[in-house]
Formats: sequence, C-alpha cells, structure tokens
Amino acid sequence: MNFKSEFAEVLFSSLNGELEKNKLEGMIEKPRFEHMGDMAFPCFELSKIFRKAPHSIALELSEKVQTSIFENVEAVNGYVNVFLNKKMISSEVIKDVLSKKGQYGNMNNGNGETITLDFSSPNIAKPFSMGHLRSTVIGNALTLIAEKNGFSTVRINHLGDWGTQFGKLIVAYKMWGNEEEIKKDPIKELLKLYIKFHDEAERHPELNDKGRAWFKMLEDSNEEALELWKWFREESLKEFSKIYDLLGITFDSYDGEAFYNDKMESIVQLLNDNNLLMESEGAQVVSLNDESLPPCLIKKKDGTTLYATRDLAAAVYRKTTYQFAKSMYVVGNEQALHFKQLFMVLKKMGYEWHKDLVHVPFGMILKEGKKMSTRKGKVVLLEDVVREAIDLALDEIMKKNPGLSSKEEVARQVGTGAVIFHDLKHYRQNDIEFSLKDMLKFEGKTGPYVQYTHARAASLLRKGAYKETSAAFFVDDKEAWPIITALMSFPDVVQRAFTEYDPSQVAKYVIDLSQVFNKFYSHVRILDNDELKQARLSLVLAVKIVLKEGLRLLGVKAPEEM
Ligand code: ARG
Repeated sequence: MNFKSEFAEVLFSSLNGELEKNKLEGMIEKPRFEHMGDMAFPCFELSKIFRKAPHSIALELSEKVQTSIFENVEAVNGYVNVFLNKKMISSEVIKDVLSKKGQYGNMNNGNGETITLDFSSPNIAKPFSMGHLRSTVIGNALTLIAEKNGFSTVRINHLGDWGTQFGKLIVAYKMWGNEEEIKKDPIKELLKLYIKFHDEAERHPELNDKGRAWFKMLEDSNEEALELWKWFREESLKEFSKIYDLLGITFDSYDGEAFYNDKMESIVQLLNDNNLLMESEGAQVVSLNDESLPPCLIKKKDGTTLYATRDLAAAVYRKTTYQFAKSMYVVGNEQALHFKQLFMVLKKMGYEWHKDLVHVPFGMILKEGKKMSTRKGKVVLLEDVVREAIDLALDEIMKKNPGLSSKEEVARQVGTGAVIFHDLKHYRQNDIEFSLKDMLKFEGKTGPYVQYTHARAASLLRKGAYKETSAAFFVDDKEAWPIITALMSFPDVVQRAFTEYDPSQVAKYVIDLSQVFNKFYSHVRILDNDELKQARLSLVLAVKIVLKEGLRLLGVKAPEEM
C-alpha cells in the first residue's frame, strides 16, 4: 500500500478529475511537525483554478477526502492535513505478514511463464574467477527474485567447455603433461599447462597451428581428443562443484558450449538459406555493418566454430526447449558487444523473440583499485577466498558467542553470506572493492549485520515465549511505525528488483529494515511490559519473517542464533 498514491486517488475523485492524479501525488507534502499530520496537501495552486481562497478549498476537501486509512483530516491554513490510522494499518500489516510467512511479498507478474537464466558459466580447465563469482551470485539472486515474482525459471550453467583453447590444452598435455599431477590439483596444473603453451607459442608459433588442428579433431569427434577433453571437463566440474556446494547454489542444466557441437550445422545452414553468411578472409561471417557493429564470426577458415556460433545454437535451443518468455545472460560488461551482435544476428534470422533476450551486465571486482586477475599464474582461488571468509566468521563467533552449538554450520552461513551480500549490496554495474575484513563486519551495511539482526529477533521470540494466537497486533511505540512502513514496502521492492534486474534493492531493503528494527530494539524494552509484550513480539516476528525472506532472495541463509 502506498499512502501517497491512496491520498492522491481520493483527492482526484474529490476534485472531479480537475488535476491529474500524478500531478496531485507530486504536490503532496510531508508536514514539518508531527502534530500537523502525516501528509499535507497545499491548496494554493487550486485557488487560482477555482478562484476561491485556499482555505475554503481546504475546508471543502477535508470534508470529502475519506478513506479507511485516514483517522482524521483537518483543514489548516490552506492545507489539507491527514492523519493515518496507524492502529488499523499496523495491525493489518502485521497480520498479513504473519499469515503469509515466507510467502509475504509473492507477486504474480510472471504468471507462471518461463525465464531462462544463463549464469556462472565458468571456463573449464581454468580457475573460477572473481567475475564468475559475481555472475554466480547475481544470477542466483535474480533467479530467486524472478520466482518470487511468479515466473518459473531454468538455471543454466553455460560452461565454457569448447573452443580452440582445448586443442591447445591437448597439445600442451601431450607434450608436457603428467596425469598424476593433474589428478592431484587439476585446475592449477591445467592452468600451468595452458600458460606454458602460450609462452612457448610465442617462440614457436607453429604450436598454435597444432592447437587448432587438435580442436578440429575434437569437433570431428576424434577419440583421443574426446577422451582427454572429457577428463579435463570432469576434473574441472569437480572443482567448481566445491564452490557451488559452499555457496549452496544449484543448476538445472550444465549444458555448456560443447553441448551445441551437433546443433550448429543447422544454424549455419539457416544463416546460409537466409543469405546472411558472407566470406571474409576465408572465414564465414554475418555482416552487421548496417547496425554499425563489427561482423559476427560464425566459422573460421578451417571450418571450426566460435563462441558466437555456439551461443546462436544455444539461444535457438533454449527457445524451442523451454519456450521462454525471457532469456537472461548474466555476464560481465566486457561481453556487451558479443551479446549485441548475437541478438542482432537472431533478429536478422527473423526470430521475433530476439527482443526477449537480455544481457544483464556487471562491473569488476577490484583489489586495491586494480582488477583481480587470474592470469600470469597469479591465481586467486575462489574456494580459498570463501573458506577464509568462513574461518574469519568462525573466529568472530568464538569471540561473541562461544557457547553456540552449531558453530561450524553457522560460520559457513555467515562467511558465505558475507561474501554474497557484499557483492549484491552494490548496484551490479558498479565495480566493487574486495575486502574480506569489510564484508565480515557485524556492524554497518553487511550481511552479518542483517543476519545478526535476524538472530536477535529470533532470540527475543524465544525469551519472550511468543504465542502466535494470543497476539494483539497493534504496537503503539513511535519507533514501530517506520518498521510498519518498511514491511509494507517489501512487495514493491520485490517487484522493482525484478523489473530492474537489480538485487541490490533487496540488499538495501534488508539493511534498512534491520536499522529501523534495531532502533526500536534499543528504545523499547520489548520484554519488560507484560501487557504489551505479545503485541510487540508480533512485530518482532513480522520483522524476522521478512528479513529471512529478503536474505533468502539473495541466496543468504538466516541462522536462528549466532
Ligand atoms: N564462459 C564465458 C566466460 O567465462 C561466459 C559464458 C556466458 N554465457 C554465454 N551464453 N555466452 O567468459
């Protein structure tokens, strides 16, 4: 419920449509003093239109603007001042949250339609990068937010498991590789081989030709090539799943680039039939000149396919398989051109649904202002980062609450929650600075702060022996009202976070809700007054429910104790 627009609505009908509703809403002010009400409408502009004194207009209007959410309406000095019926509103809101529980804020904008979300999508035989972490947590949150908005979702991990680089890796492995060592530490060893290949290829460029030839053999299903590729892929997936397990993130499909190997020929055929393919220096391309974009490369000179070819096949496959209403790609800014080209080629192919494809880009993670790089052997292993966060969380818990029973599990929830929340509280397009110390603080705008607030609410409910049925829902404390208005705005936040593909709105929301709740907590002795205790606890429970649900939408757990 939006009080302002409700007020504008009644003004609109009281004025017989003389001014537009939006215009009226824009005119509504917040009175300077509390005794003047919660909202005020100035009548000075109307005085010109109706050729009457502002005060007499205010008087007339104050008779007419009536709605159940107003307790009192007064005309004062040319203003219509309204007082909200806080008692009625707050008990309605609390009742609503308590009865819907986690379902509170569920929307049906999606009508059950399907959205596919392509996110995480790391490249095999390479470390899971910071960029992939961003894609993973943003994509996971957007999936949960889409579901909350009534869509059904398909989570796709479009693994980077195909391409010339695997031809190169095969060459490198055959020349310098050692099976045992790879088995011990697959990603590190494979990366080493990859780096060595590039070093050597600088001096011996013929190695590149060898690499290309092996990729060609891979695309042509050469047995040895396939065998090695499969092995690299499996070892890599084992590593990646450790991170997904830690973060508690799952996928519906791991169909990556290789999956489209046998689905590209028909796409190339279609492009050909539509006269879209042309030759350029021996390669096959789709010209996007008329769109002021560079051409989209479809096939190389040697007949092998490219990243874009596989994405074309993937888009068509997803449309036929899932009948999506929208198809999202959560991939860093640096691939913006790729997606522009991809969507444009699909448009040229005559696919109406090209307009349902969305690239959801994001900025970089920086360390001391610089891009965190995985190249040049300087590997930041993400699993280590997450584990370090968990260790630090455990230290903190040992200091704060050494008697806690399930310390390890709570530390996991707090450590991963801190990393995820730190990412999501920033608007995704902004670059963010990575600092474990900052993200693990229990105060300030962090995940642990929100989790801590949730645990505090849980503890109050335990200590106060809250009984749901006996509750009277009205809380008269001044500090309760900001909580009520925050609770009321949750559905709007859920909706906006989806339409703007912006999980940071949910993150900011749970911080705001935590802050108003903690203010209430520090001013009101919730458990002291027996008469008011149950009513106050009903508010505490409503806060707890919405904090937990907000965190869930971000992919963050809410422990009961910490
Ligand atoms: N594997 C790619 C990378 O790491 C990301 C893939 C994104 N998804 C896609 N359909 N292109 O850069």
